[in-house]
Amino acid sequence: MCACHVLMMGWGDLGVFGEPSKETPNLDQMASEGMLFLDFYTANPLCSPSRAALLTGRLPVRNGFYTTNAHARNAYTPQDIVGGIPDSELLLPELLKKAGYISKIIGKWHLGHRPQFHPLNHGFDEWFGSPNCHFGPFDNRALPNIPLYRDWEMIGRYYEDFKIDLKTGEANLTQIYLQEALDFISKQQASQQPFFLYWAIDATHAPVYASKQFLGSSQRGLYGDAVREIDDSIGKILKHLQKLGISENTFVFFTSDNGAALISAPEQGGSNGRFLCGKQTTFEGGMREPAIAWWPGHIPAGGVSHQLGNVMDLFTTSLSLAGLQPPSDRQIDGINLLPAILQGKLIDRPIFYYRGNEMMAVRVGLYKAHYWTWSNSWEEYSKGIDFCPGQNVSGVTTHTQEEHTTLPLVFHLGRDPGEKYPLSFASNEYQRAMEQISVIVQQHKVTMVPGEPQLNVCDKAVMNWSPPGCEKLGKCLKPPKSDPKKCFWPH
Ligand SMILES: *[C@@H]1O[C@H](CO)[C@@H](O)[C@H](O)[C@H]1NC(C)=O
Ligand SMILES: *[C@@H]1O[C@H](CO)[C@@H](O)[C@H](O)[C@H]1NC(C)=O
Repeated sequence: MCACHVLMMGWGDLGVFGEPSKETPNLDQMASEGMLFLDFYTANPLCSPSRAALLTGRLPVRNGFYTTNAHARNAYTPQDIVGGIPDSELLLPELLKKAGYISKIIGKWHLGHRPQFHPLNHGFDEWFGSPNCHFGPFDNRALPNIPLYRDWEMIGRYYEDFKIDLKTGEANLTQIYLQEALDFISKQQASQQPFFLYWAIDATHAPVYASKQFLGSSQRGLYGDAVREIDDSIGKILKHLQKLGISENTFVFFTSDNGAALISAPEQGGSNGRFLCGKQTTFEGGMREPAIAWWPGHIPAGGVSHQLGNVMDLFTTSLSLAGLQPPSDRQIDGINLLPAILQGKLIDRPIFYYRGNEMMAVRVGLYKAHYWTWSNSWEEYSKGIDFCPGQNVSGVTTHTQEEHTTLPLVFHLGRDPGEKYPLSFASNEYQRAMEQISVIVQQHKVTMVPGEPQLNVCDKAVMNWSPPGCEKLGKCLKPPKSDPKKCFWPH
């Protein structure tokens, strides 16, 4: 099994989804040989909670990847976060061990960087990559540069040992991550052992980067160069599986962790096509993701599915592929997509759109009801932070948190995918849609037991000062005195 989980690639970034430059020939071919999901979602419009959801099959509000510091705020794992993935959560690689799987994560982990949160303590057998985003360079005094790990120990830091040239945008990381993936696959094939590869590359996250051979290759600028390199790498991974003769034994899924960050666009961010807004928001642009399933000989080529899917389904679907049941001692939000993928079935299920601890919206069939609307605060917006650039839908992309719980705003996503024309409250259609939606929301709320929030406390002393292995490299830094504080989450 291989899950390619890219960062912040938008629904509109792939040729097969209508991107006019048509610069993703490999992903387009993957879709033509496999199945395209047009209604596939993330569980949160931000990186860490989305990853936690994929690997646990549970909404972030259940697995603890949220904050209660302020209402409906997105939270993630920056360097000074104290929390991370709780031991009580069961991650996909942990469960796959029961079926003899070897699991590797390549790229960004982002579920906490302190030792107890290390991916090898949560079921992965191998790791090559970093615990946090590749921001920097830092001065190693106020902030340490982010380390890269091989398995248990750090092997260097970004900008020091793994260069990212912010002026030219050149970095070789995607090539390194590609080679790691090819080597891992070869090794597993040689030892005839089933594997789970979580390929979590991050070239499309600001600061975006590409290697020299891709720089300047796109009509879309540096972001497009990064997309081209990822596209090329995925082509190479699929060809490698074919060359080794294991493509009919390997289920591959491609998706993104949240919508394109329009705040970084167009140079450092992608496109969400015709959907409203982007990363950080619970509008379609923040949550709907490009998604492709590939499994030659099993998935009918050129298939298109309108199944409402979610990254959490990859958890349940992967367990099913391995012949395992999801854990029965907890609520699992992911569903098994195999009937949709292999038999073209449509499974009834809602999609919940959360921001932190608040259910902002829900999709049932083609209707989406907003119970809360918010893009970001006027204060932030006035400083130029705009998650919906060029898009102002009156009363919808609001800059104050607007409550609509008694009379939700409802859109028909089939006729109005851009969420521009709310149904009239007085219409029969509105009444009928809300009758159905209300029942589902009420059930969801009544049975919701939030997990312990993990993203409330920050402390500079826990940053990546002295990761395991730093002594061997002479790269240990002295942490400041511990001073835990409530983390501040602006949006
Ligand atoms: C990328 O690798 C090439 C070939 O080894 C090297 O010349 C170049 O300096 C590397 N670039 C960066 C930014 O590390
Ligand atoms: C969006 O439009 C509404 C109605 O015209 C207006 O009140 C609001 O200030 C606008 N928002 C922005 C961010 O311009």
